[in-house]
Amino acid sequence: MGQVSEVSAKNESKVTSHSHIKHLGLSSTGVAITNDTGGFVGQAEAREAGGIIVDLIKTKKMAGKAILLAGGPGTGKTALALAISQELGPKVPFCPIVGSQIFSAEVKKTELLMENFRRAIGLRIKEIKEVYEGEVTELTPEESENPLGGYGKTISHVILGLKSAKGTKTLRLDPSIYESIQKERIVIGDVIYIESNTGAVKRVGRSDAYATEFDLEAEEYVPLPKGDVHKKKEIVQDVTLHDLDVANSRPQGGQDVISMMGQLLKPRKTEITDKLRLEVNNIVSKYINQGIAELIPGVLFIDEVNMLDIECFTYLNRALESPIAPVVIFASNRGLTTIRGCDADEKGPHGCPPDLIDRLLIVRTLPYNIQEVRSIVLKRSRHENLSLSQEALDRLAYLGSAKSLRYSLQLLSPASILAGVSGRNEIAAEDVLQAEDLFIDAKRSALILEANSKYYL
Ligand SMILES: Nc1ncnc2c1ncn2[C@@H]1O[C@H](COP(=O)(O)OP(=O)(O)OP(=O)(O)O)[C@@H](O)[C@H]1O
Ligand SMILES: [Mg+2]
Repeated sequence: MGQVSEVSAKNESKVTSHSHIKHLGLSSTGVAITNDTGGFVGQAEAREAGGIIVDLIKTKKMAGKAILLAGGPGTGKTALALAISQELGPKVPFCPIVGSQIFSAEVKKTELLMENFRRAIGLRIKEIKEVYEGEVTELTPEESENPLGGYGKTISHVILGLKSAKGTKTLRLDPSIYESIQKERIVIGDVIYIESNTGAVKRVGRSDAYATEFDLEAEEYVPLPKGDVHKKKEIVQDVTLHDLDVANSRPQGGQDVISMMGQLLKPRKTEITDKLRLEVNNIVSKYINQGIAELIPGVLFIDEVNMLDIECFTYLNRALESPIAPVVIFASNRGLTTIRGCDADEKGPHGCPPDLIDRLLIVRTLPYNIQEVRSIVLKRSRHENLSLSQEALDRLAYLGSAKSLRYSLQLLSPASILAGVSGRNEIAAEDVLQAEDLFIDAKRSALILEANSKYYL
């Protein structure tokens, strides 16, 4: 007998360094909750500032503004930016990059900067379309003798039965539509819609009347569509301006947003010129004026901003003043340091020129005290499914505040392995101490280097 095992529909999410951060953890009035379950500990002011940023973005009052998250290493700047993106939800574009990412041998850095700017600006297109929507009740291809003679038969058309809450309809479709039906792997019992003037077929999901059937695959079950089979339906699509640029840069690109979107399927490296962008902008503003599309400014997050150089900064100054600009969030852990591309003695705060700093709203992240480190370590250990003894937690909290938070978080996994080797489930203080011996922290490493400099080149 064959074995049947259940497949859970839930994808297990991977544990990454920020995956314990679920949201900013603010009350409805925007105050940071002290004992929040969202994963964020302490840093109340920065979180509240983050909450205000989220509100301003959602009410679209923030476009073209820039924010700087400034604070020492490991104080949660990247975590804060990710929490902001989570609060914004999936519909608002969030484009995270690192300062060094825009330097490439092939493409100009300002070009890449602009590209990422446009990845952070969304366009929501609403269209009223005439569609046939319903659950498939019948799907029979009708064959006929090949009119050109010879062997075999060709499909002359397809009979498709659709059922909705209000009625049923039988459609006679072209063979070309049958091909897209096959591509979408549509079978009887699926809920689909067909756009009546383009013939585009879309599978919505499986009808929930079939929800009890024996099915090993994770399926999305949807209710029977309301209303008639033939109706007008509002179809909403979210794209970014960059998507449209790419689509339009293809030679066969059409002149309106809808046909450009048809080209989105295959990404290919092509040059996007300023002229092309202007073209896209013109089309987009036409759509906005007609009320078909709506601009959704998102967030461009540039981590390690000190890696940008003076040319990028002047370009950014200009780009931020354009009428369509996203919110730009910078982060830096540097203090007063050289501005790249300037003379070595020209220093700026966070490696930014003073005129850019002047345009920024600055949010500080502060170092953690030992209690805060303790709860971060505890949150992290729960997230990684590790259990810690009281003494082990004390030791990790001490390490986190005396050495660095990252060091203490990084010791968690080796310590859990050491505990496992000794046959324990719970991490004890001795495991942490042993892990400390095996993996030294940055300060100790520097001391060792200094003391043994003669052994190194
Ligand atoms: N307040 C906090 N609550 C929970 N976890 C935190 C908090 N602050 C930082 N962390 C966690 O600590 C680690 C380091 O934080 P993060 O990477 O955000 O620091 P950073 O400020 O971006 O540092 P760097 O300047 O080095 O990039 C991450 O795993 C992060 O999720
Ligand atoms: Mg960071």
